[in-house]
Amino acid sequence: MSWWWKGALGAALRKPEENSGPQNVALIVGVTGIVGNSLAEILPVSETPGGPWKVYGVARRPRPSWNADHPVQYIQCDVSDAKQTQAKLSPLTDVTHIFWVTWGNRPTESECCDLNGAMFQNVLDAIMPNCPNLTHICVQTGHKHYIGPFEAFGKIKPHETPFVEDVPRLDAPNFYYTLEDVALDACKKKPGLTWSVHRPAVIFGFSPYSMMNMLDSLCVYAAICKHEKVPLKFPGTKAAWNCYFVASDADLIAEQQIWCSVDPNGKNEAFNCSNGDVFKWKHLWKVLADKFGVEYEEFDENQEYVSLAERMKDKGPVWDEIVKKNNLTPTKLEEVSTFWFVDLMFGGECMLDSMNKSKEHGFFGFRNSQNSLISVIDKMKAHKIVP
Ligand SMILES: NC(=O)c1ccc[n+]([C@@H]2O[C@H](COP(=O)([O-])OP(=O)(O)OC[C@H]3O[C@@H](n4cnc5c(N)ncnc54)[C@H](OP(=O)(O)O)[C@@H]3O)[C@@H](O)[C@H]2O)c1
Repeated sequence: MSWWWKGALGAALRKPEENSGPQNVALIVGVTGIVGNSLAEILPVSETPGGPWKVYGVARRPRPSWNADHPVQYIQCDVSDAKQTQAKLSPLTDVTHIFWVTWGNRPTESECCDLNGAMFQNVLDAIMPNCPNLTHICVQTGHKHYIGPFEAFGKIKPHETPFVEDVPRLDAPNFYYTLEDVALDACKKKPGLTWSVHRPAVIFGFSPYSMMNMLDSLCVYAAICKHEKVPLKFPGTKAAWNCYFVASDADLIAEQQIWCSVDPNGKNEAFNCSNGDVFKWKHLWKVLADKFGVEYEEFDENQEYVSLAERMKDKGPVWDEIVKKNNLTPTKLEEVSTFWFVDLMFGGECMLDSMNKSKEHGFFGFRNSQNSLISVIDKMKAHKIVP
């Protein structure tokens, strides 16, 4: 962890022993997701600003082993179900901060707006009347704020890069806009309640339960190449191999959200959240290959483009073999990989964002993207998801 608050912000942040008033109590909605898992790890640490935090975490599935060490009260609940959400979350009376790090997918963006808006509203309806000390809501969205939803790619004109936070909304349905509206509306109803919106680029983080995890999927791909004794080929375009990329480390996003939760300069604002460096996949590809002890190939434009989803479509039984042979945590290929998402990320040039606003407001967190990659691979191996 980068303890960005040490010295950087001075008195602006309360140290744990300086906390006055009620204890800070977090409700992480999406606690086993790519950023939820980082929040679950960082919030309970005694040095974390605003601490000592008490932490509740919500997700639908039973708690997985790789999340179970974090001192979090785990609540199994489907927040798209209003009745269930009332039953499971309205007994909570001490929540002070909501961390919204989840989402639901539907075939069209307009349905995504309905679903995600309803999920968020269900949680607010259960928490707001019962938690008088609720003070802040962090909402995680992302770069699609600037380029539009997946269904609009290539159809609407995205904002110019580098993306800056205060541009007008695009003229297309976008569940990110719905989430912002729900949060702002809640804050209007409760004096003193504040919000922050966090807009990462592609996230580098560890969660086998994530619906979009680029690095976990690449680790699985590398493990399959190693097992089959074939070189690790880059499954993307020439532009993706050569261009500058930005990424967002999941721990860094968690740190920015916690900073907004406790620092007045982070309130009622939207912030981009990327690592603060740029990299090229042609350089990280070698690092990935080395970590798995597999040979790799440079991008070759004479080879026909085959998407990663296509390359991996019949590899379920191979994955089963790898899991068995290496005594890994039992998983199915479709659970630990989101190859469609890798294809999307490797489909063209990366769109860069600006971190100026975040820094100007006082958040100086930074990550070296190569180190982020290595740390995710190490976690995948430590939790025996890949060999
Ligand atoms: N992943 C990325 O690279 C990326 C990049 C930029 C922006 N974003 C944005 O970040 C936001 C959060 O996505 P994420 O990728 O961080 O999430 P994620 O990794 O897919 O995690 C989702 C979490 O929410 C839980 N969940 C899903 N549906 C639920 C429901 N109905 N009730 C309760 N829990 C539920 C999941 O566990 P269960 O399945 O067990 O319920 C999981 O813990 C999204 O708006 C996404 O578009 C993501």
